[in-house]
Amino acid sequence: MKKTQQRQHLYSIHDLSRADIEIILDHAERLQAGTINHSTLHTGKIAGLCFFQHSTRTRAGFDVAMKKTGGSTTCLSATREVPHTTFTESLDDTLRVLSGYCDVLVVRHPDSTMLQKAMEKAVSPVINAGSGCEHHPTQALIDLFHIRKKFNKLDNLRLGFAGNLQSSRATRSLLHGLSYWTPKEIRLLAPVGYSLDTGDLAGIPPDTITQYDSLIAEDLDILYVAGLPNPQEQPAFSAETRTIFQVNLETAAKMPLHSVIMGPLPRIDEIDRALDDSPLATFFDQSDDGLWVRMSILHFFLTQHNN
Ligand code: CP
Repeated sequence: MKKTQQRQHLYSIHDLSRADIEIILDHAERLQAGTINHSTLHTGKIAGLCFFQHSTRTRAGFDVAMKKTGGSTTCLSATREVPHTTFTESLDDTLRVLSGYCDVLVVRHPDSTMLQKAMEKAVSPVINAGSGCEHHPTQALIDLFHIRKKFNKLDNLRLGFAGNLQSSRATRSLLHGLSYWTPKEIRLLAPVGYSLDTGDLAGIPPDTITQYDSLIAEDLDILYVAGLPNPQEQPAFSAETRTIFQVNLETAAKMPLHSVIMGPLPRIDEIDRALDDSPLATFFDQSDDGLWVRMSILHFFLTQHNN
């Protein structure tokens, strides 16, 4: 794996160049194809998994990716390490200490600014596993990998993003990653007041961006279901809004036969379960791809001082 330059941490997808992204995707492709023996890739290495927010895919995915490549993991889960409790250690100190024990840290945190600052103190590479509403670079790499696998290209595609885009770090990071290529259309499909700001779309040519307050999926190559998460929390979207933005067999019937329906998951009711067996529904395949991409991300950062 050849690097374009040394990179200590992965905070934002913009910490990677287009060439870096292609290196990570190419390596993941070889791992998935079995042309590289992955079982001893990270023998003797330890990843620290520090999750200060809930996670299923990212946490378990990095855990398994590390173990399947011969490495091991240590996990932070006790409340002592969670900020805003009565016994709080600063994130800076926590990451500094753990980075002294581990070869790489994978960290999810609700506050992007706090995480970015704490990364500066770490003495081994830190991978942002999702922070605030802003950054989810490893999810973006998984998404780019899946799109490239399905379409054999990242240019000239029509992509729709559906749901509460304002709080979707996965959407932001994927759009920032896509800005290294040239999309044909970026269609933002969000309830009024829950779309993205123009600042989130920097790098995407303005004449390719369209906005709707309903689910207009016709002619899309990719419908990315960002979702309307957390019905028990604010903002709680009405049943009517959830119905308008639910992706179902009717939505799929309006999309081209070659198109795909993706999403970072989890879902509540944003993707109707009746859609799961549709050939357009590739979100579980996308989630499966994540294992190989996470192996490749770990390798990129674990070997950065050796190449
Ligand atoms: N896609 C994603 O980040 O899922 P988790 O929150 O389960 O990690």
